[in-house]
Amino acid sequence: MTLDDIRALVDSDFQATNQMILDRLKSDVVLVDQVGHYIVAAGGKRLRPMLVLLAAKALGYQGQDHAKLAAVIELIHTSTLLHDDVVDESSMRRGRETANELFGNQASVLVGDFLYSRSFQMMVEVDNMKVLNILADTTNEVAAGEVLQLMNINDPKVSEDSYYQVIERKTAILFAAATQLGAVLCNASAQIEQGLRDYGLQLGIAFQLIDDALDYASNAEDMGKNVGDDLAEGKPTLPLIYALTQSNDDDQAVIRKAIEQGGLDDLERILAIVNSTDAIEYTYQAAEKAVKRAINALAPLPDNEFKVALIELAKLSLARSA
Ligand code: IPE
Ligand code: IPE
Ligand code: MG
Ligand code: MG
Repeated sequence: MTLDDIRALVDSDFQATNQMILDRLKSDVVLVDQVGHYIVAAGGKRLRPMLVLLAAKALGYQGQDHAKLAAVIELIHTSTLLHDDVVDESSMRRGRETANELFGNQASVLVGDFLYSRSFQMMVEVDNMKVLNILADTTNEVAAGEVLQLMNINDPKVSEDSYYQVIERKTAILFAAATQLGAVLCNASAQIEQGLRDYGLQLGIAFQLIDDALDYASNAEDMGKNVGDDLAEGKPTLPLIYALTQSNDDDQAVIRKAIEQGGLDDLERILAIVNSTDAIEYTYQAAEKAVKRAINALAPLPDNEFKVALIELAKLSLARSA
């Protein structure tokens, strides 16, 4: 099963979601329209909205709110990307210049806020207190996760544990909310709801692990983002944290300095150390374990093609190059 096959399963809902995102970007303020369309039209994998749709359909959902919540989740994600690229000083996203590069930091932050609050307007329309509860908690956790990560920047003493706390909060919780919402819309049993939430959480952990591996192991053309962004920022992600534990004193000193000072001056040397310590393999193995946990969490769900698609999507996340 490819990503296209999976998308085809929910094609009409997926189109409805995309259309809703475009419709709801509208504003009479020209710059909001410009920046909003710029980042949304650049594409992106639309993985999180797909998770909402597949989770709802796996439980036989017949209504229309899943498409709206899928759009809400993607708008939240998009707003965090606008903010994240300012904080990370990134210059490339989705294969083109970042919004901050083209329109400036101020516009990116403010339009990020616009998309964020537009998502709140839309979630209220669903008129379901449990949905609001989940999304209020989720957005708060994501924000805390990004701040936690900021506190870890330039700190070579960050532990694996601390790294996992960051990725769970900044990334995985939004995946967890996406799949949990599918269950909530269907008034599913507590067991199924928890299963879908756990699936999303573990998939999100795997997804960020792979993202952090690709930051060292891929290339800008495939990724649509620049390689070495994390190193440039002095961000201690798992490949570096593990490499530190596996290298000799000289190499450790190089990694520590790179984390403390940021910048790409030592990129070649760091890549060589990362490779010689098998830090990318280690990160992939951690992602594989998370994917296994994700798939196991789906056990309480009824067997159908949507559940199969969720399983395949988790496996595909390991093989992704973008
Ligand atoms: C990027 O997410 C941010 C991370 C959590 C790594 P995606 O890789 O899903 O970004 P798009 O939406 O496909 O561009
Ligand atoms: C994901 O982290 C950040 C968000 C939760 C928005 P990254 O900083 O690794 O994401 P990319 O690599 O910029 O997409
Ligand atoms: Mg970033
Ligand atoms: Mg990244």
